[in-house]
Amino acid sequence: MHDRDRPIRLVVVRIIPMTAARALSPPLPPTDRGSSLILAAAHNTAAMADCMQEWPEPVVRVQAVAESGLAAIPGCYVKPPRDRPAAQHLATAGVGGDEDVLQEPLDTSIPVIDLGELVAAAAAADEGRMGLITEAVAAACREWGFFQVVNHGVAPELMRAAREAWRGFFRLPITAKQQYANLPRTYEGYGSRVGVRKGGPLDWGDYYFLHLAPEAAKSPDKYWPTNPAICREVSEEYGREVIRLCELLMKVMSASLGLEESRFQEAFGGSECGVCLRANYYPRCPQPDLTLGLSAHSDPGVLTVLLADEHVRGLQVRRADGEWVTVQPARHDAFIVNVGDQIQILSNSVYKSVEHRVIVNAREERISLALFYNPRGDVPIAPAPEVVTQERPSLYPPMTFDEYRAYIRKNGPRGKAQLDGVEQGQAAGTPPENK
Ligand code: OGA
Ligand code: NI
Repeated sequence: MHDRDRPIRLVVVRIIPMTAARALSPPLPPTDRGSSLILAAAHNTAAMADCMQEWPEPVVRVQAVAESGLAAIPGCYVKPPRDRPAAQHLATAGVGGDEDVLQEPLDTSIPVIDLGELVAAAAAADEGRMGLITEAVAAACREWGFFQVVNHGVAPELMRAAREAWRGFFRLPITAKQQYANLPRTYEGYGSRVGVRKGGPLDWGDYYFLHLAPEAAKSPDKYWPTNPAICREVSEEYGREVIRLCELLMKVMSASLGLEESRFQEAFGGSECGVCLRANYYPRCPQPDLTLGLSAHSDPGVLTVLLADEHVRGLQVRRADGEWVTVQPARHDAFIVNVGDQIQILSNSVYKSVEHRVIVNAREERISLALFYNPRGDVPIAPAPEVVTQERPSLYPPMTFDEYRAYIRKNGPRGKAQLDGVEQGQAAGTPPENK
């Protein structure tokens, strides 16, 4: 059921002609990567709530733009030259056929960690088998902020089913998905942008966002798609299994930092952690050299477990030397795990929440499922006293995840500006869009 041969047709939803033209045509302002935010902005939730009721412009589905058959992408998707992908990366984006040959040497890619022994030990309630794995995890979290896991205990069939269910959803006609259109206040549902800044840059991707935990935050009847019929059930089971993996990863990461195994979980709110799923859909793009499927960002939460497309590469990670490295999934049933901003904060920047982005492709659409494991919204998070020393004083003031996320949701992806901005001692200033 591939959509390659579908007739070309532009579906612009909830748009009046003038605004549609405006939404699609203005040149992209340069992103403000590197600009710093102030804490006060995140606390200003009342002002923020006002602008979170509606998107600032009519929403255009990237799928609609892609299917319209345009040879050139609209200006709002064009990135400034410094943010565009390098030509050699685009040449290697496809998986299969000749393009399958990675131009980059394999040893430049993110570490792969086999969790087999640990999963077996956890199942047998056999503690204390973490040694070698924690070393590998510690090195990956310090140097890359990213690693892949294999033999992680989640069934490959479930992973495949989840990917297929969501692929099925995105391949529905846009009109069938429109009933789930999301709003910036909650983000739940079918979306095509992050951030409410008017005229802000757009990315070449649509997504679906929903809450998997805690139970009270879940609203499957209202927000989860019923088509494909399997989508709800599979997402539920997938969530359960991947959350279990997250809990194991939290223990490993905590131990790898020299802390009690339970330390991370406690600091992030015990059993009250929040979990969200973001299914990403990156349609084919006639000019992948000019845009990005997802702009450079770091993930705001604790950790992210990504199930990438089994056929098409696209995720790029910024290596310590600043180079973008395209991730090659180790296997179809590998997960890509990354450290989120909250672990960088709790570890006082020993572990890094690393910038990543997505490149798109002229020949293939791409899908991915990102599961975000987040702290409870109302617990202040600051560097753990165990990792703060006189030589390495605390870099971050306490802040709750609700405050932190509200800021990000307003502003959209901005590299690592958010986290850099909350470092202690930053000069206070007003974010550019409020000036
Ligand atoms: C994300 C993300 C990467 C991908 O959703 O935060 O980084 O490959 N996704 O889709
Ligand atoms: Ni991400």
